[in-house]
Amino acid sequence: MTTHVPIVLLGLGTVGRTLVKQMLETRALHRDRYGVELKVVAIADSQALYVNNDGLSAESLEHVVRVKQDGRSLRDVVGDRPSGSLALVLTEDAIVVDVTASTRTEGVLREAVACGCGIVMANKLPLTVDWHMAKGFFAYADLRHEATVGAGLPVISTMRSLLDTGDCVRSLEGCMSGTLGYLCTQIEQGVPYSKAVAQAQASGFTEPDPREDLGGRDVARKALILARLAGWPLEMSDLSIEPLYPQSLTGLTVEAFMTAATSLDDVYRERADAAARKDQVLRYLARVSPEGGAVGLTAVSRQGLLGSLQGPANYFGIYTDRYEQEPVVISGPGAGPEVTAAGVLGDIVDLASRRIR
Ligand SMILES: NC(=O)c1ccc[n+]([C@@H]2O[C@H](COP(=O)([O-])OP(=O)(O)OC[C@H]3O[C@@H](n4cnc5c(N)ncnc54)[C@H](OP(=O)(O)O)[C@@H]3O)[C@@H](O)[C@H]2O)c1
Repeated sequence: MTTHVPIVLLGLGTVGRTLVKQMLETRALHRDRYGVELKVVAIADSQALYVNNDGLSAESLEHVVRVKQDGRSLRDVVGDRPSGSLALVLTEDAIVVDVTASTRTEGVLREAVACGCGIVMANKLPLTVDWHMAKGFFAYADLRHEATVGAGLPVISTMRSLLDTGDCVRSLEGCMSGTLGYLCTQIEQGVPYSKAVAQAQASGFTEPDPREDLGGRDVARKALILARLAGWPLEMSDLSIEPLYPQSLTGLTVEAFMTAATSLDDVYRERADAAARKDQVLRYLARVSPEGGAVGLTAVSRQGLLGSLQGPANYFGIYTDRYEQEPVVISGPGAGPEVTAAGVLGDIVDLASRRIR
């Protein structure tokens, strides 16, 4: 017997579109292994909502993906009139998937909690608002959010497993940004800061405005999510953040920033050289414990696990009562649409198979 699990998908960007493709490709697998069929009953971008209570066909989903791939709006598919009501598809058996980068989904997610839906997030924002607003999500048993930290790497599930077996997390550390990892290893190899930033931007490793990555806030959000998962009710203000560009370059256009970035070449060259004289290398490291944390450029031993990280690889070290001296380590690629969508899909299948049991 096959049980249909309704999926409400918010976001059709790089990750959302890849997720739709992966859902279609793995349908037979889920049916055979778990007796589950994921049925997309609603799909949304920032402009429009497409609802079909019977589930969108594979052809409709493929069409939507093509439209979004072409840079168009879902409105081009459904027109200006609402195609249905989200309230009607927020049923107890549904799973709401947030693959946006928006704060505007928070209302729907809260409704989903109230309706008893499963929730899967790649979006970090709802989990990093003030604790009194976010704690309801962390307390919700049917929330999964593997892709919020380390993309498809099993960071959140490992933390959950440690906590579920009575271990206590003492502190966490990690290189949580592929972009900044790439930047650090380029500078280590003698590439000037401005050139390394330009290369990262050209390779699509950064947001269109590289300052969004260089500012360190996205890393701080990941550290905050891990801290809160560990049971520490920290706020963003409990983390100090070292941005990799000065305040004076904030107001510039992207082009002007890229030109002005050459003024930082010597600053980062000198820091890398000072580290090298002590057989150390620079890594953009997040460290967090129950009292708070710090996110920034840190000199680490060249020979250690952190020092030997190369390019955009991520690293997470979890120190617990059981893993007191040597941390549990998870390392590997921590970004990219394929691995991120796979992290989201893994969460969806986990929730779907548990819920039908
Ligand atoms: N890309 C990665 O490698 C990666 C890795 C780990 C985690 N993540 C996280 O995954 C999420 C998605 O990333 P992405 O790269 O796919 O982002 P993206 O390409 O910017 O796509 C975001 C999507 O969300 C839609 N959206 C915005 N507001 C919405 C709303 N209120 N309701 C419904 N849809 C809305 C956008 O609509 P429009 O198309 O109309 O603009 C767009 O389709 C982000 O939170 C990101 O931090 C990404």
